[in-house]
Amino acid sequence: MHTSPVSPATRRQRQHARRLGVLAAGASMVLAACSSGGSGDPADYPDGNITITVPFAAGGPTDTVTRLIAEPMSEELGQEIVVQNVEGAGGTLAAGEVAAAEPDGYNVLMHHIGMSTAPSLYPDLPFDPLEDFKTVGLVTNVPMTIVARSDFEPETLEELITYVEENVDTVTYANAGVGAASQLCGLLIETAIGVDMTEVPYDGTAPALTDLVGGQVDFMCDQTTNTTGQIESGDIKAYAVTTPERLENLPDVPTVAEAGLPDVEVGVWHGLYVPSETPDEVVSVLTDALAVALKDQGVIDQMADLGTAPVAEDEVTPEAQTALLEEQIELWKPIIEAAGVVGE
Ligand code: MLT
Repeated sequence: MHTSPVSPATRRQRQHARRLGVLAAGASMVLAACSSGGSGDPADYPDGNITITVPFAAGGPTDTVTRLIAEPMSEELGQEIVVQNVEGAGGTLAAGEVAAAEPDGYNVLMHHIGMSTAPSLYPDLPFDPLEDFKTVGLVTNVPMTIVARSDFEPETLEELITYVEENVDTVTYANAGVGAASQLCGLLIETAIGVDMTEVPYDGTAPALTDLVGGQVDFMCDQTTNTTGQIESGDIKAYAVTTPERLENLPDVPTVAEAGLPDVEVGVWHGLYVPSETPDEVVSVLTDALAVALKDQGVIDQMADLGTAPVAEDEVTPEAQTALLEEQIELWKPIIEAAGVVGE
């Protein structure tokens, strides 16, 4: 953490933060906590702790993927990686804070598909995903499952659709807030069925899943990295996977297309980001470490157990991630606008 009088780099960061409009008292405390690393000279990078900020609750899918890669990345970089969770506003709070953080390579954001839906969901988003970040590389693309509390009446996706149509005023759908993948999946279901369900927002799908198991909410979409164990143990029931093919580790769960909702096919792609003024040579170091982590056999095996896999080698690049981000911003814009969802 910097304790010296305000450095030129810090001044630049604050100017940048003021432009983003997020340097409120609370945010500045988090920024200070994030400024953990090094001499500030890109040639020395990395020579201090690196913080990866997860924009959702601990124990959830984004957190799980981050912690899987943090250890091998840390070994490769020879520095400690601190994973911190900054929950709120469907992931946009954390993204705004990292966008405004010191652009020195010690402040990294893990985010998912929500980075591409946020600009359409939030009219006053305090950052621009393309302007205020540099991309580091893609990480993984996680399938989702449509799941319900174990004693929920519908037994199949077809029965669920009918149930939702007939009980739209009472059925409850859990998500991780406007901007979360679980919210996007719910929106696709609502659009496909033509209903408007009661959504119960959480800080992440880890706490949402706890309430689903406890029977406090009826159903949700969540990534296999969070649901596989609970589906296998029977704590929740699964109606469908959001992939074109069935998953090897959940062979009895039909695809959304098989089960009658082809428009709910969606994969939750994850990538790493740094503030836009981070030097390219620093970004390259992070990209190389990410590539090494994604080849780690332990990471590959653990991801396979959770129904996912590292992205292909040529996708672990800033270029591939930026291209996907641009494409996905355009893809989701008309769908979200048509649904009329607005985040706060
Ligand atoms: C989501 O719905 O976007 C994620 O599951 C959030 C999380 O990691 O908890």
